[in-house]
Amino acid sequence: MTAAIELMDVRKNFGLAEIIRGVDLRIERAERHAIIGPNGAGKSTLFNLITGKYGLTGGTIKLHGEDVGGLKPFEISRRGLSRSFQITNIFANMTVFENLRCGLLWSMGYKYSFWTLVDRQSRLTERAEELLEQINLGDRRDTIAGVLTYAEQRALEIGITIAGGADVIMLDEPTAGMSHSETAAMVQLIRKVTEGKTLVMVEHDMGVIFDVADRISVLVYGEIIESDTPEVVRASAKVKEAYLGSSLDEADA
Ligand SMILES: Nc1ncnc2c1ncn2[C@@H]1O[C@H](COP(=O)(O)OP(=O)(O)O)[C@@H](O)[C@H]1O
Ligand SMILES: [Mg+2]
Repeated sequence: MTAAIELMDVRKNFGLAEIIRGVDLRIERAERHAIIGPNGAGKSTLFNLITGKYGLTGGTIKLHGEDVGGLKPFEISRRGLSRSFQITNIFANMTVFENLRCGLLWSMGYKYSFWTLVDRQSRLTERAEELLEQINLGDRRDTIAGVLTYAEQRALEIGITIAGGADVIMLDEPTAGMSHSETAAMVQLIRKVTEGKTLVMVEHDMGVIFDVADRISVLVYGEIIESDTPEVVRASAKVKEAYLGSSLDEADA
């Protein structure tokens, strides 16, 4: 079967610095895949290569079997890949509900342009209500997004990311800056809303992804040193060495 995402000898240089140094990776459909690694390993760079934000220095990236190297982010998004932003990307002066409708409109703009306005309005509203429940912000429906807590803003951002019904969801450190309990809630939310979808999640805390990932790839200095199930990765001597015990100890605690 065709992989959801396939990377072959992917390389990225910034000037003379080789940041991604020959990455091969295959992510199956409906797999939940985590990319972890120490700070500065190149995780966000790899993420930005897959989403088309950065051009490749070398290698091939396929989405559902189709070469997407050189395509622009919106072209990749049209092929069913949706990403979140490490920096919160919502409209602060619109309500939660309006933000979701906006995310929907944006994604439906090209797909459903044949709808009549009224039909489109009611379907939009219906779908936005559904999303609102999915991300557990029902009681914040008419709250201005700018006054939500940080964790609620990140949940809203997840809602906007999944709004268009993309089958590949990419999240870059969705629990960054969250407390322990907020992180646990976010992990639950991610599991729920990505059910049956392909999930690629970048994370630097190993503890976070054990609950979510089917498979984990460990990126160190721009190379994948291990790509396997959480159990195998956790037991890997190579991975332990790369992390010098720090994140693994957190995961064990
Ligand atoms: N746009 C860029 N221009 C130059 N160097 C960059 C750029 N983006 C990232 N880097 C460098 O690439 C390395 C990896 O960064 P990044 O992918 O953000 O790592 P991670 O997300 O794993 O912490 C770092 O040394 C960083 O300084
Ligand atoms: Mg990063």
